[in-house]
Amino acid sequence: MNAQSVRGVSRLVRGMPTSDGAGVKLTRVIGQPRLADLDPFLMLDEFGTDNPGDYIAGFPDHPHRGFETVTYMLDGRMRHRDNHGHEGVLVPGSVQWMTAGRGIVHSEMPEQQEGRMRGFQLWINLPARDKMTAPKYQEFGPEKIPAADLGGGARVRVIAGQVAGVTGPIAQPATDPTYLDVELEPGARLSQTLAHGHAAFLYVYEGSVRVGTGESAATVAAHELAVLTDGDSVQLEGREPPPDQAVSRAILVAGRPLREPVAKHGPFVMSTREELIQAFQDYESGKF
Ligand code: FE2
Repeated sequence: MNAQSVRGVSRLVRGMPTSDGAGVKLTRVIGQPRLADLDPFLMLDEFGTDNPGDYIAGFPDHPHRGFETVTYMLDGRMRHRDNHGHEGVLVPGSVQWMTAGRGIVHSEMPEQQEGRMRGFQLWINLPARDKMTAPKYQEFGPEKIPAADLGGGARVRVIAGQVAGVTGPIAQPATDPTYLDVELEPGARLSQTLAHGHAAFLYVYEGSVRVGTGESAATVAAHELAVLTDGDSVQLEGREPPPDQAVSRAILVAGRPLREPVAKHGPFVMSTREELIQAFQDYESGKF
């Protein structure tokens, strides 16, 4: 008989302020010296500011090959357009799960709504066998992302994975991802199954959340990422948020590690140096 194990916190990481695109100010949480990666996750950026000057120049045309970019908007909009004719606007609560595959060139231009612009971009690696797949979008507006109300002040928007019988709309068999937007009132609890062996993290973006039980438990403050230890489930409890907020909010993300060699440079993530050079050549010669 196997004992079920509850995940704890192996480390806490704060993001680093940086800028990307045409000078967009953001916080890089994964993909920086304190947390270079968390296989299969290559990068996590939190962008959020009330000052349009911090992001108005956006992310003009740039390429991607060999992985997926996942954009989740909390506030404001993201206007996007690619070289294959796909374009649209992500509104608050939308997710765009883009499989760049063999290559796209796109622009991503943040816009304020009611004075706010806030969200996340997560980069997830693809296995070598899928890196040159056709580009693909899984894009869902807020009304297409189901919510699970677990009672006791715990609510979860299910982008990918399953919570209490509610299944998120994203499918990606390669990494089998879980992506949950969790809202906890003070004292509210969530016990969530996560596949054993999957890499997992919790990133708190409002309030604070107690993670785990016993000695490996820790309280995760706003704008901190908790890398979770392995196990079968995780237990979260909302802490008292600051006076101007009613709840604590966090994203809980997990996925199957690929355990493959990674050769990456800028917007290309391949398996070998030769494939990286090929990616640059293909981009330069307009093959994206
Ligand atoms: Fe991009």
